[in-house]
Amino acid sequence: SGATRQRLIDAHRVAVDFYMAQLASPQGEAGRRMLDQRGFDAAAIERFKVGYSPNSWDGLLKELRRRGFTEREIAASGLASQGNRGQYDRFRGRLMWPIMSITGDPIGFGARKLSDEDNGPKYLNTPETAIYKKSQVLYGLDMAKRAISQQRRIVVVEGYTDVMAAQLAGVETAVATCGTAFGSEHVKVVRRLIGDGADPAAGVILGSGAAYGGEIIFTFDGDAAGQKAALRAFQEDQAFAAQTFVCVAPEGMDPCEVRMNYGDEAVREMVAARRPLFEFAIRSVLTGLPLNSAEGRTAGLRAAAPMVASIRDRVLRGEYTRQLAGWLGMDEGTVRRAVLSSGRRPA
Ligand code: CTP
Ligand code: MN
Ligand code: MN
Ligand code: MN
Ligand code: MN
Repeated sequence: SGATRQRLIDAHRVAVDFYMAQLASPQGEAGRRMLDQRGFDAAAIERFKVGYSPNSWDGLLKELRRRGFTEREIAASGLASQGNRGQYDRFRGRLMWPIMSITGDPIGFGARKLSDEDNGPKYLNTPETAIYKKSQVLYGLDMAKRAISQQRRIVVVEGYTDVMAAQLAGVETAVATCGTAFGSEHVKVVRRLIGDGADPAAGVILGSGAAYGGEIIFTFDGDAAGQKAALRAFQEDQAFAAQTFVCVAPEGMDPCEVRMNYGDEAVREMVAARRPLFEFAIRSVLTGLPLNSAEGRTAGLRAAAPMVASIRDRVLRGEYTRQLAGWLGMDEGTVRRAVLSSGRRPA
């Protein structure tokens, strides 16, 4: 492609410095105001190297050319788009979050428009390049990885501002995907850091419970997309599901909004109040049912029994059978028989 990995990273270093300087300049006024409204002070902006792309077709291009980057290197970096008469700056008039590799090298950007009236999507991200693979990258991981390994826990939030808010609030293990769902490639990255339940040695070596994999904790805001993604994991990867926890912010807020409205401690409390994904998924099918009636309880049992039956670990399945009886307010033997008979039918 005409550019080495190192050259692409170097181009991104130039871009990070350029965007940071623009944010600090008079042009960056509106961007600074938006960050201030979200509760990010100068130290936070510096720590996460947030910048601003000027509303210009060649502001960054000129800087990259001046620093000796070729047209082919610039094209391969994803920092420019290709037009009829040559390249132009891909990111214009946006707040810029540099996305670092796990080793801390800048490899891409997430970019937010300043106003709803501006053109284009709310967030624009770097396209796939030789160094930027969105199916693998986790924003914030370079800063969070040490805490993630030590705590054997990772907190997955939805957006760039949520990572900033959570880490600043003391949830050091916060990361986010970059404009894509949390997928199997991300799971691999995470498992290398926190281990999994199938590897008892990891528990022994790390001094925590053997065969207890680390925790993957998702925070959800009000919309349903993230919740659906987590429920899919229930079906697809049971070992992953058994390590997965869910926290739901108050009033459909995201962690950035929780911090803005209620402060740092509320963000930490939200994470501390996590529930296992199995519990979250099973209880979500009971929500809204009139469990004070025989009909409501029966409907709840009919919906939830197949979910409990699909848990492959026998001991865990027994635990959730007992818990389901409690949530329904039903006799445990009745629930066990329902789980057994729904498990015998093909799912
Ligand atoms: N996202 C995206 N493209 C969009 C909208 C969202 O890639 N058009 C991604 C971004 O990574 C964003 C995340 O999804 O950070 C979460 O989306 P949303 O909750 O809508 O964004 P917030 O980060 O909460 O945005 P805001 O700046 O408005 O707080
Ligand atoms: Mn959202
Ligand atoms: Mn969302
Ligand atoms: Mn938000
Ligand atoms: Mn959000």
